[in-house]
Amino acid sequence: MNWWQHGVVYQIYPRSFQDSNNDGIGDLRGLIDRLDYLNDGTSKSLGIDAIWLSPIHPSPMADFGYDITDYRDIDPVFGTLDDFDQLLQQAHQRDIRIILDLVANHTSDQHPWFIDSCQPGSDKADWYLWHEENTRPNNWQACFGGSGWSWHPGRKAWYYHSFLPQQPDLNWRNPQVQQAIREVMEFWLARGVDGFRLDVVNLFYKAIDLKNNPTDWFKPARPYDRQRHIHDRDQPEMHTLLKQMRQWVDQYPNRMMVGEIFIADSDNASLPASYCGNGDELHLAFNLEFLRAPFSAAAFRSVIRKWIDLLGHENWPNYTLSNHDVKRHISRYATHEQTLDRARLLAAMLLTLRGTPFLYYGEEIGMPEQAVSRRQLQDPVGKRYWPLHPGRDGCRRPMMWDSPNVFSNVTSWLPETRSEGVTVADQSHNPSSLLSWYRQLVWLRKRTPALHKGKLKLIGSPDEVLAYERCDQQRLLILLNFSSQAQPINLHRHAIDQCLANSQLDAPLFRNGSLLLRPLQALILEISPDFPRRASVAP
Ligand code: NOJ
Repeated sequence: MNWWQHGVVYQIYPRSFQDSNNDGIGDLRGLIDRLDYLNDGTSKSLGIDAIWLSPIHPSPMADFGYDITDYRDIDPVFGTLDDFDQLLQQAHQRDIRIILDLVANHTSDQHPWFIDSCQPGSDKADWYLWHEENTRPNNWQACFGGSGWSWHPGRKAWYYHSFLPQQPDLNWRNPQVQQAIREVMEFWLARGVDGFRLDVVNLFYKAIDLKNNPTDWFKPARPYDRQRHIHDRDQPEMHTLLKQMRQWVDQYPNRMMVGEIFIADSDNASLPASYCGNGDELHLAFNLEFLRAPFSAAAFRSVIRKWIDLLGHENWPNYTLSNHDVKRHISRYATHEQTLDRARLLAAMLLTLRGTPFLYYGEEIGMPEQAVSRRQLQDPVGKRYWPLHPGRDGCRRPMMWDSPNVFSNVTSWLPETRSEGVTVADQSHNPSSLLSWYRQLVWLRKRTPALHKGKLKLIGSPDEVLAYERCDQQRLLILLNFSSQAQPINLHRHAIDQCLANSQLDAPLFRNGSLLLRPLQALILEISPDFPRRASVAP
């Protein structure tokens, strides 16, 4: 089994993890200093197996690194190539793999390729999507607002950008572009990186006839969200390209690609699975449906069931609750008193499902969304749509290491409001903290084959309980009570060999010999092998 299947991945937004040179922005040296926190080989550390780093390449930072000017270097704000090599070496020594963010749908408008492409007669004239007419060719919109087509006065032509005008889209139909990105990938693979997260990978190809997207004029939404994006993404050629990319990557042993499939709503939740092909395209395609799910057992059960069915036997699942584009889940699901219990329950789900869990830095200490005033906004999305959409700064806040925070010795690039008890220092030595719970779950998963590779079977349960078995040599039953009421479970205490993990301090409760799940309780139980298999634990 591969590391990207049994391991736990931890996403780091490098600007916000650890500053080492007192400029208020996180960097690679800072991250190296924190590697022991992530995995020092003992259960005193978090125990993660891989880091996905959001972009670290040179960039004018119009979209904070998702606008690259040089794919083969490190932005000075994060350090140097030497620092990166150090990071790779030190991470590998600790059995931590490194996944880079490959932003290849678009570059920065400051990238030499684009600057070149703007020159009349350039040999890179066809590296981007140009339209040499007086009017825009169609109604395609940019995801971050406005038309997707901007006028370039130098070349006297329109160019297409799926996001900001400073992020022109590459022309993936040009074999030279394919070759250039292949060389970038090989540059990093040869250096030792373990994989890539492919940014908006389903956007690479656009329909060649540039037809208008159909528009629902009555939908109360931004022009971008009123369109059905059938011509500006998800073209069949992408599957051929991914099969090739898979071969480029698989030439190097034990490497992987995880793709972000950009979908506007859950209407086409089946798309991500399609980009895994028959085990011959992406190694993993992000399932981002948990980011939209309401807090209910039924909602999560339905996402899991659908995802398993769509992936089939060849492809491997993955799950994630938070990332750098959405409100942190602890804040999404916050209630007055039960926020922490909910976070503990969701951690138990994420780390016991069959599929690679992706954690987002700070979720292990319950770092909430940071309120950012209009004056403090950095994210271009927030700047354009505030207050309708406050932007993504709130989930990119500096990591809360200690109090006073030691993310940086100077004012950080984003505000950091202290939340009581929400620091690594507060929680590290407290056995009942959220951090200790994450550590317990990650290490339990690591040493328990049923959890990291066993089969998963969803089983019937009371409506507000999510229940599944994970089986290998061992038989485990995971019970997750999403409600604030106790829930009866039809399971006699004699069926339980041992309780491997309990999200709450109180021991499991039995009434007349049968289990009663406490409100918001998560239990991981080992079931006796002799106990007959059942399709349901509903009373
Ligand atoms: C998706 C990334 O997750 C997001 O942060 C970025 O702004 C866009 N792609 C554009 O690259």
